[in-house]
Amino acid sequence: MTTLITNIQELLQIRDASIRKVSGSEMAVLPSIKNAYLLIENDLIADFGLMENCPKINADETIHATGKVVLPAWCDSHTHIVYAGNRIQEFVDRINGLSYEEIANRGGGILNSAKKLNETSEEELYNQSKARLEEVMKQGTGAVEIKSGYGLTVDGEIKMLRVIKKLAQNYPIAIKATFLGAHAFPVEYKENHSGYIDLIINEMLPKIAQENLADYIDAFCETGYFSVEETERIMEAGKKYGLRSKIHVNQFNAINGIAACVKHNALSVDHLEVVTDEDIEVLKNTETMPVALPSCSYFISIPYTPARRMLNAGLPLALATDFNPGTTPSGNMNFVVATACIKMKMTPEEAINAATINGAYAMGLEKTHGSITLGKKANIIISKEVTSFYQLPYCFGTDLIDSVIIEGKKMV
Ligand code: NIG
Ligand code: FE
Repeated sequence: MTTLITNIQELLQIRDASIRKVSGSEMAVLPSIKNAYLLIENDLIADFGLMENCPKINADETIHATGKVVLPAWCDSHTHIVYAGNRIQEFVDRINGLSYEEIANRGGGILNSAKKLNETSEEELYNQSKARLEEVMKQGTGAVEIKSGYGLTVDGEIKMLRVIKKLAQNYPIAIKATFLGAHAFPVEYKENHSGYIDLIINEMLPKIAQENLADYIDAFCETGYFSVEETERIMEAGKKYGLRSKIHVNQFNAINGIAACVKHNALSVDHLEVVTDEDIEVLKNTETMPVALPSCSYFISIPYTPARRMLNAGLPLALATDFNPGTTPSGNMNFVVATACIKMKMTPEEAINAATINGAYAMGLEKTHGSITLGKKANIIISKEVTSFYQLPYCFGTDLIDSVIIEGKKMV
């Protein structure tokens, strides 16, 4: 199967295969070709270049993209797409003045979702989750990481990870699974943290490894959740099973968790709404990708990750949705990119780099995803007619996507 896209106004994010991520001032540059073509063979990018060099072939499908921009599909490196039910009542409670913390302290929050999940069958959980996955694919997401973490029991966590595995088997999109048993302490372990961590390490992890259900391990390193020491125990245990860590950290408080993550060579540190100068210092020249989640800041009214301070210090940054029922009931990467521009003062070039190549890096997919590169997966967004790609974040909230191609297959 071959698809030829011709007369592309601008083909964005063209990278050499050696580029794994972009940092600091490199992020201001988004290499592109104006008046371009792109050739897809089966699931891969086979050729691209200036329209004047377009091969004269009879492709199975030809798409004329006059006035349209083409870019790699979004790489969403942080989601909780698999969950049961919703938390609409907490949304209303927050509107009426309660904080996220107050709601959690009343037994709401993560524990509320955990209760619902444990009462939901695997089949029902799959059906609810696949609807969300299909939605985000239509919105241009071509690779996604999905976490467990709403089970908090052996069976609940395994159920979530099996649903993630089944989604990965049934959809063309690349899915990475992250085990987040350390998302919150169940009520019965409130006064017995080490008991719950023992359960994670001695019961959950061996089963997950045996069924090969996870690629990464995560913990919510935060005051009132997992301390830095407890998070370190989780990271060390994951390492024994070959699971690198991707950690929720610095969402509400800076408690020196980032330094611990860097020490354990975490693949990513995510949230970072509160970042100290020491945190920035410790991330310099490391393999750990900082990940910002602006839709979460938007939805629960907390600070935005200080992208400018981080980029000015030479750090890389990735953008992801955090799609989850409590803090971000949206998996729309277009909104994330626009919000990063509007609220975090990232330029469109920086935001697109953060949502493509750096997002791919933050889930270990940079060799196959995140850029227009020969031999990478044919994961492509074709926009509607626009004046330039700046219109994508500028017209926030407007659907400017014409087509999405994932691994060579047209989704919309
Ligand atoms: O990334 N911060 C921790 N976990 C999720 C939200 C969990 C929830 O409220 O359900 C997050 O924001
Ligand atoms: Fe999250």
